[in-house]
Amino acid sequence: MKLGVNVDHVATIRQARLAAEPDPVIAAAQAESGGADSIVIHLREDRRHIQDRDLRLMRQTVRTRLNLEMGTAREIVAIALEVRPDQVTLVPERRKELTTEGGLDVMAHRERVVEVVEGFDAKGIPASLFIDPIPEQIAAARQVGAKIIELHTGAYANATTPAARLAELKKLEQGARFAANLKLMVAAGHGLTYFNVTEVVAIREIGELNIGHSIIARAVLVGIDRAVREMKQLMAR
Ligand code: PXP
Repeated sequence: MKLGVNVDHVATIRQARLAAEPDPVIAAAQAESGGADSIVIHLREDRRHIQDRDLRLMRQTVRTRLNLEMGTAREIVAIALEVRPDQVTLVPERRKELTTEGGLDVMAHRERVVEVVEGFDAKGIPASLFIDPIPEQIAAARQVGAKIIELHTGAYANATTPAARLAELKKLEQGARFAANLKLMVAAGHGLTYFNVTEVVAIREIGELNIGHSIIARAVLVGIDRAVREMKQLMAR
């Protein structure tokens, strides 16, 4: 199973002091040496963590795959089309949120999503859609031409009782199966940690996990190479 490591929070620490360090570009290289299969960054409209310079440098330095998370704002789409990451992941983006709160509502934003997915397709860049594990959203993702989806694991990660956690895990399982039957490639992520990842790893239809906060939090204490290595060990099938 593949691991995409999101290094946004390295930039969050840097931006806390508007300083030059720590550099997410260096963190990305070290995450790769720890076994990351791809590097994920989110260029937000408000540039609260990742900066344009980080994206441009990582385009040159990342040796695995660069997956750019982004909203569908015209400015960001134009930058992405110019820099050409290996993949983009479309997420909903609200200015005040602490992190991406829910999945993209593909049905509600169908017209714009089709336009953006087709724009990237034309440049040979696959666009993944970050959506909740709801059959209607998964079917809509297929209809707008996406070939990859990322299932939002936040509800599973935030479940407070064993019964709720199991119910959310079932939704992920069923969603992943439904998507695989539609010939979509399935990734998952958000809120995954060293303590809740193994149940998600057991879902065979999910081929990739994208994890940020938990790995960077651990990296502060043990180093990013070891933090990534330990997560990969948990994900071995
Ligand atoms: N996948 C997507 C689409 C995200 O927006 C995020 C958060 O940036 C993640 C995965 C990683 O979430 P976390 O930081 O909670 O591991």
